[in-house]
Parts: sequence; C-alpha cells; structure tokens
Amino acid sequence: MTKVESSATRVDNSATPVALGGTRGGPDQPTLRNDRWWLAPVITVSILTAFVVYATWAAFVNKNYYVGAAMNRDLISPFYSPCLTQGCVSTGAANHAVISWWTISPALLILIFPLGFRLTCYYYRRAYYRSFWWAPPACSVTDAHLSYTGESRFPLIFQNIHRYFFYFGLIFNVLLTYDAIMAFRMPGAGGIGVSVGTLVLCLNAVLLWMYSLSCHACRHLCGGQVKSFSKHPIRHKFWKFVTPLNAKHMQFAWVSLFVVAFSDFYVRMVASGTITDFKLF
Ligand code: FES
Repeated sequence: MTKVESSATRVDNSATPVALGGTRGGPDQPTLRNDRWWLAPVITVSILTAFVVYATWAAFVNKNYYVGAAMNRDLISPFYSPCLTQGCVSTGAANHAVISWWTISPALLILIFPLGFRLTCYYYRRAYYRSFWWAPPACSVTDAHLSYTGESRFPLIFQNIHRYFFYFGLIFNVLLTYDAIMAFRMPGAGGIGVSVGTLVLCLNAVLLWMYSLSCHACRHLCGGQVKSFSKHPIRHKFWKFVTPLNAKHMQFAWVSLFVVAFSDFYVRMVASGTITDFKLF
C-alpha cells in the first residue's frame, strides 16, 4: 500500500459524525462550539432594536427637528429632510412645502427610503437573519427553522429591490450633503461659521456616502458584467475605488447608523433648548 492510499483509508476517530438535516451538535445540543458565539447576535439585536425604537419615536414626535434663524443656525435632522410638507417648521431652502394634504409627521413620508435601503442591505440581511431569525444564529450552530427556502420566494424575494433603494439612497445623500453645507450658515450671527452641529451634519453626510459607495449594488454597478476591464477603463477606475470601501461595508453600516441617529438626537437637543450648539469659529 502506498503512502497516499494509507492516509486516505485511515479512519479518523476524532471526527464528529454529521447527519445532513440533523442538529449540528447532536439531538441534545444546538452546537459543539464552546466560544461565545451568541455575543454577536445579542449585540445585533440590542443595537437594531434600540435604533428602531428611537427612529420610530423620533419620526412620530413631529417637533424639535429644526434649528433655525431664531437660534442663528440652519440645522435640520436627517430624519426630516427633505421636509416636503406644509407642516414643516424648517425655513429657507429646507422648507419646500410641496405636499399640503399630508398632515402628520413629515418624517413618515420620507423615512421609507433610507429605512428600505438599510432593511434590504446585504450586510444587514445577514445580521438580522442571524440574530432575529436564528437562520442560523452563527456558523456551526443549529438553525431555529427546519427548512430553508432562501430569498427565492415571497416575501423575501422582495429583498432584490435593494438596488433601487440604492438609487434612492444616492438622492438622499445629495440632499443631506446640501443640508450639511447649509449648516455652515449662521443667520444673524456673521453669516457663515462652524458649530458642533455643522460638524455633526457633515460627518453624517460623509458616512452616508461611505455607506452607499461601499454597497454591493454600487460595486456591481461599477464593475459588474464587465468581461474585460481593459475595454472599460472608466468603470475599472470606479470599481477600483469602491472595492476597498466594499470590504469595509459592515463598519460603514454600523457607524453611519449610529451617526444618523445621533444627528437627529443632537438637532433635537439643540432645538428643544436642552443644549447649546457651540460655535467653534
Ligand atoms: S449591500 Fe449594504 S447598502 Fe447595499
């Protein structure tokens, strides 16, 4: 018997028998892992639940979302921009007032797009499938469900709409970038300046761009279905630019989520008079 045949036919007694369709750790335990695999799902559930609760409250509260000329500022919460209804309290460029029949919170009119973008995001899908649906909760841990149909059927087939939410997300990025530029305005206090609020809205706009540009749909838009990059040098340049960002998509997803919520919170605190928006220069 040759050396190769000998190793191929040797029985490995340390191997765990695997039954397809069975539980991964056997009938009595969901996994053989003894590390803290449950930590990531717990953190994900905690953060996403906190965000959903806060965003829902902020969207319905319908006040304290704009800091205007009375406070020598032009700061609008990203949850309420663009403010498209008659009831908007924002002034100047932020007050479009184009929809007169909408009488409840203007945030409810627009949040469907940024929330839809995040809800259908490939990374968030992985995160909430694992943490909320336990399908599976982690590598080598038993699924909480006996069958798996993927995203090929109703309702999850609608996740494919993500690329269209990506296009809407770009429009919102332009609008929030405009808001960040307007945040340099200091009406009645010298015209132009930089406050903490200016920096918060600028950081928010930058991170939202990073989140969008690192999106998988964006990378596909730049370099997908190209057989030869040498024949598409411009697309190759875009693809080379977004590919390293795409590798950091998870980080951009979490940081931008936190900062967009913090931006709303900051504007809300200033608008309600709880804190002062310090002018830096
Ligand atoms: S994959 Fe996450 S935003 Fe597109």
